[in-house]
Parts: sequence; structure tokens; C-alpha cells
Amino acid sequence: MPTILEKVSLQPYNSLALPAVAEYFCAVHNLAELFAALEFARSKDLAVIPLGGGSNIVLAGDIAGLVLSVELKTLSHRVFGKLVEVTFAAGENWHDQVLHCLQQGWYGLENLSLIPGNMGAAAIQNIGAYGVELADLFVSLRAIDKQSGEIITFDKAACEFGYRDSLFKNAGRDRYIIIDITLALSTEPEINVQYPALQAAIDEQAGKITPQLVSAMVCQIRSAKLPDPKIIPNAGSFFKNPIIPQAQAAALFQQYPNMPSYVQINGDIKLPAGWLIEHCGLKGAVRGPVGVHQQQALVLVNSGGGSGAQLLALAEEVRATVLERFAVLLEIEPRVYGY
Ligand code: EPU
Repeated sequence: MPTILEKVSLQPYNSLALPAVAEYFCAVHNLAELFAALEFARSKDLAVIPLGGGSNIVLAGDIAGLVLSVELKTLSHRVFGKLVEVTFAAGENWHDQVLHCLQQGWYGLENLSLIPGNMGAAAIQNIGAYGVELADLFVSLRAIDKQSGEIITFDKAACEFGYRDSLFKNAGRDRYIIIDITLALSTEPEINVQYPALQAAIDEQAGKITPQLVSAMVCQIRSAKLPDPKIIPNAGSFFKNPIIPQAQAAALFQQYPNMPSYVQINGDIKLPAGWLIEHCGLKGAVRGPVGVHQQQALVLVNSGGGSGAQLLALAEEVRATVLERFAVLLEIEPRVYGY
């Protein structure tokens, strides 16, 4: 039986360093411990809240139920010619595994370097950066159905991936605990540097463009723009980039011809929320202990020991201001717990 603790501070377990207390807390290191913890929760009729790296959550208050720190760690791989299918346990750290795969000569993850968090959570929001998203590499995942206790395998179609979205944020929300994910990597590098900021950084480098160089450049760009959560607590992008119909975008372009935008497959237009927030004059805004980051307006920071309520009040101010100025509604990206 894993150790189940009562009234545990979750401040060290969320990258925004928000204060919140879990009614019950348990770290699980293998499937036996995970099933035992689930049985404990069932016997007491407790909600079960799985926690990954804590880098994409907002704790608005204390959490009733059993918070499970999923610390499953194993790695296995199968080689089929140049294809390498790697299965990562949910509790493995994302960036450590990106580096490990690069070292092995298994390529594909380099554009996703330095993303905080763990492997399991990566699938929930279909993490993406610098022209690649998890879905591009995804084969399958396994998850425990909290209701039946069964282990279920989900292939890519079953995960219903979208931009920062998946089944696990919609119909499957709160139902599953992801235990591992399998990705398809390749021993032959396929360089993807189309993302403008990445292309610009690569253009400044001499010599051959290798996956290792791409990874190093992504780390460099991220470090320059995004605050390190260990130094300035944050949850990365706090809002999704909004996707709006073409007609609405056309009206905005008339007013703001220099607004960056990305055309979607269906013709809709994705706008960078960071640009919208910056053009509302909110970049670097400080509201007591919380604020909008100086270098990337999409990131809210908790630099002075603020609370979830203070952070969410700032998020509402940002949303209302952007709505009034651009008639575009921003959606909060991290999962909010403990209302
Ligand atoms: N921009 C501004 N002001 C800002 C921020 C951005 O004008 O304060 C402009 C930039 O100049 C650029 C455009 O907005 O023209 C896009 O900026 P950036 O390349 O920084 O990317 P993003 O759209 O702001 C998204 C992801 C990031 C990811 C980057 C790179 C979302 C919600 N965010 O940000 O993800 O790293 O693209 O691919 O899609 C994260 O999820 O935590 C995260 C950092």
C-alpha cells in the first residue's frame, strides 16, 4: 500500500506555486500502488485527481479528494527499420526524454525541447511548439478507466487531438489516468524549421542543421522568451491562441494590418493571443503579486506569492480587455482546480 497523507500542501507540486491543500495525497511509483490508491479512494468515495508535472494547472483553492502524484517511470522501445516506437511511462519528465531520445539517435521530438511537465500530461493538451505537436508523433496511450479499473489503449484517432485539445479535456475529462504514451520516432532526421522564430535562429548558425542544433535553438528561444518556472512561477501559455472565422479576421486586418496570423486548414484564422494582449497595453502589467510576463504576454506569472484567486482575477481582466478591444474571447489553457 502506498503512503496516503492527509492535508498536504500542493504548493511544491504546481509550477505557478499557488497555495492549496489536498485533502488526501499519494505518490504512486508503479501500477500496484496506483490500483491500491484507487481502491482507497473508492472505499472512501473520494474524487481522484491525477497530477503530472503540475505545469499546466491553476489551483484556485483547496482540493477535496485524493490527489495522485503519478510517478510511474519506465521506458521501452521497439525498432522497425528506421522507425522507433518508444513507450514512455506517464511520470517521466518530458524534456529529459527529449534529450534521451536525441542521444539515442531517435529523432522527431527536437522542436518540442524544454517543454515543462511529464509525458502523461503531454497527451491531454496535445502539447505543441515550433511547428510540431504531439499528435504528429503519436501512436497510442494506455490509461486506467477510473470507473471500471480497466486499462484501455487509445490509438491516435480515439484521442481526438486538436489544437491544445484532446478527448481527455472533453468527453474523457476526469475519467482516465494516463499511465504511458507511445510515440513514433525515426533514426533518420527530418528537419522542420519552418516556424519563423526558429528559422531566424537557425539562419544565424553556420554548418549542418542537425536535430541537436534544432533542439539547442528551441531551448535558446524558449529561454529568452519564457520565464523559468523555478525562478518565476508560471504555467506557460495561460491562454490558447484564439481561432476566429475569416470574415471576423478580415475586419481586424483592416484596422491592424500588421497583426500576425496563421491560416487553418478550414480557412479559419488563428491569432497569437500574446500579440492581442500586448496591443491592449497589458504586457508586463503587475497586479500585486501576479502579473503578465514582460517578454511574452501570453504567460501570467506569480512572482510575489499570489493566490489562485488573484491570478484568475488578472486572467479575467486580460480576457475582458481583449474582448472589448478586439471582440475576441480568450480561453484559459491550463486546467483550473479547486473553485
Ligand atoms: N507576440 C507578440 N507579443 C507577445 C507574444 C507574442 O506580439 O507578447 C507575437 C510574436 O511576435 C509572434 C506571435 O505573437 O509574431 C507568436 O508568438 P510566439 O512565437 O512566441 O508563439 P505563441 O503563439 O505566443 C505558441 C504556443 C507556445 C509555443 C510557441 C512556439 C500556444 C497557446 N502557445 O505561443 O506554447 O512555445 O507557440 O510554437 O499555442 C505553452 O504552451 O506553454 C507554450 C509556451
